[in-house]
Amino acid sequence: MPFDVNSLENHWMPFSGNRDFKANPRLVVKSEGIYCWDHKGGQLIDGSSGLFCSPAGHGRPEIAEAVYRQMQENDYIPHFQLGHPGAFELAQRVSRLLPEQMNHVFFTNSGSESVDTALKIIMAYNRAIGQSQRLRFVSRERAYHGVNLGGISLGGMVRNRESFPVTLPGIVTMRHTQTSEQAFARGQPATGAELAEDLARFCETYGGSTIAAVFVEPIAGSTGTLVPPVGYLQRLREICDEHGILLVFDEVITGFGRTGKPFAAESFGVTPDIITMAKALTNGAIPMGAVGVKDEIYQAVTEAAPENSIEFFHGYTYSAHPAACAAGIATLKIYETEGLFERAASLSDYFLDAIWSLKDHPLVVDLRGYGMMAGVELVSDGVPGRRGTRFQKDAFWNGLHIKFTGDNGIVAPAFIAERTHIDEIIDKFRKTLDAHL
Ligand SMILES: Cc1ncc(COP(=O)(O)O)c(C=O)c1O
Repeated sequence: MPFDVNSLENHWMPFSGNRDFKANPRLVVKSEGIYCWDHKGGQLIDGSSGLFCSPAGHGRPEIAEAVYRQMQENDYIPHFQLGHPGAFELAQRVSRLLPEQMNHVFFTNSGSESVDTALKIIMAYNRAIGQSQRLRFVSRERAYHGVNLGGISLGGMVRNRESFPVTLPGIVTMRHTQTSEQAFARGQPATGAELAEDLARFCETYGGSTIAAVFVEPIAGSTGTLVPPVGYLQRLREICDEHGILLVFDEVITGFGRTGKPFAAESFGVTPDIITMAKALTNGAIPMGAVGVKDEIYQAVTEAAPENSIEFFHGYTYSAHPAACAAGIATLKIYETEGLFERAASLSDYFLDAIWSLKDHPLVVDLRGYGMMAGVELVSDGVPGRRGTRFQKDAFWNGLHIKFTGDNGIVAPAFIAERTHIDEIIDKFRKTLDAHL
C-alpha cells in the first residue's frame, strides 16, 4: 500500500478525543519564542508554555545545538553500571537549585516515572531503616501525579482513574484545598489551612507509624491551579515530622521557576524530603524527569546494601539519556544567564493583574493564581468539562493555545514573555469567552 502522508488514522493520540480531532485536526507545525503556527498557516500565542514545559520559549538554538553536539559525540550509552559526564554535571546543577540537604538526583524520562520512582525510593528507604511496616501512602483529592500505576493510585482526578480499577492498595486521600470562601483569592488563600488536619486524623485512625509518605503538589496544577492556603503546607510538614512520615512535593509543574523561585518549596518556605520534577527541566525539548532526594535517604538506601552491590533495583533504559542531559544543562544555563526565575517573579504581578481583569466576565466563576501560573474556572454548561474542551478548540482557531482540564483554563506563559504577550493572551481569552455567551 502506498504511504499516505495525510493519514491521521494510525496514531492513537494520548488524552485526546481521537475521532473528533481526526475529523477536525489542529496540527502545530512550527514554534518559536512564545508563538506557534498551525498547519493552515495561522499564528497562535502559547498561553500555557506548551504543557507548562517551555519557560524559556520555543526553539531555543542553545538547546538544539547542545543536543546536536552531544548526539554526534556520544548518542547513547546504557546508564546501568556505566556513566557519561553529562549526567553527573546535570545532577549537580539540579542539586544547586534544590533545597539544602537535597543533593541527590535520580533521572527518569517523565513526571509519571518520577512519581513511581519516588514511591520505590520511599519503600527502599523504609526497608533500609527498619520501617517496612510503613505501607500506607497519603495523597489528596483532585491530585495529578501522572499516569503510571503508582501515579494514578495516588491521583485524585476521577476520569484518570475510573477506567483503571486496579490501583495500589493502602492509599488514603485527604480533601482538596478549594473552598467556596476562597473564590477569587489571589495568591495563597487566607483560609483552609485546617484541611491539613486530615493528615492528623489519618495518623489517629491508622497509626502514624504505618504511613510511609504524603504526596502533594504544592500548587495542584492539572486540576486548575489550587494554591495552598496560608499555613497548610507548614502544617503538613509538622504532622509528618511528628510521625516520621516523608513529605513529597510533586513539582512537575511548579519546578524550575513557575512560582518565582527554583522550586515552590522555597516560595512557600517548606522543605519536603523528596521533590519530583520533569517538564521545564529541558524546556520541554527532550523528555526527561528527575527525583531529588534528601542526602539521608540516598545514604540510607546505598549504605544498607553490601559493598560492590547494586543498591536500588530500579532504572530505565533511557535514564539520564545523553541527549536529555545535554538539553537539561543547556536549559539550566539559559535560566541562569537570563535570570528567568527572577523574571518570572517580577512579571507575576502584571500577569495576575491581567488574569484578574477577567473577573467581571459572566462565564468566569473563579480565578486563582500564584507566580506565573493561574487557573480560570468557567461556568459549566451542564456537562463537566464540555465547555472547557470546546473553549480550548475555539481558542486555537482564535490564535491562542490554552490548556484546559475540565472547565479550568490553566494559563502559564513562558517567562520570556513581554507584557504585550500577556495582554495578547488575555485579549484572545476574553474574545473566546465572549463568543461563548
Ligand atoms: C504534578 C504532576 N505530576 C506528574 C505529572 C506527569 O508528568 P508526565 O506527563 O511527564 O508523565 C504531571 C503532568 O502534568 C504533573 O502535573
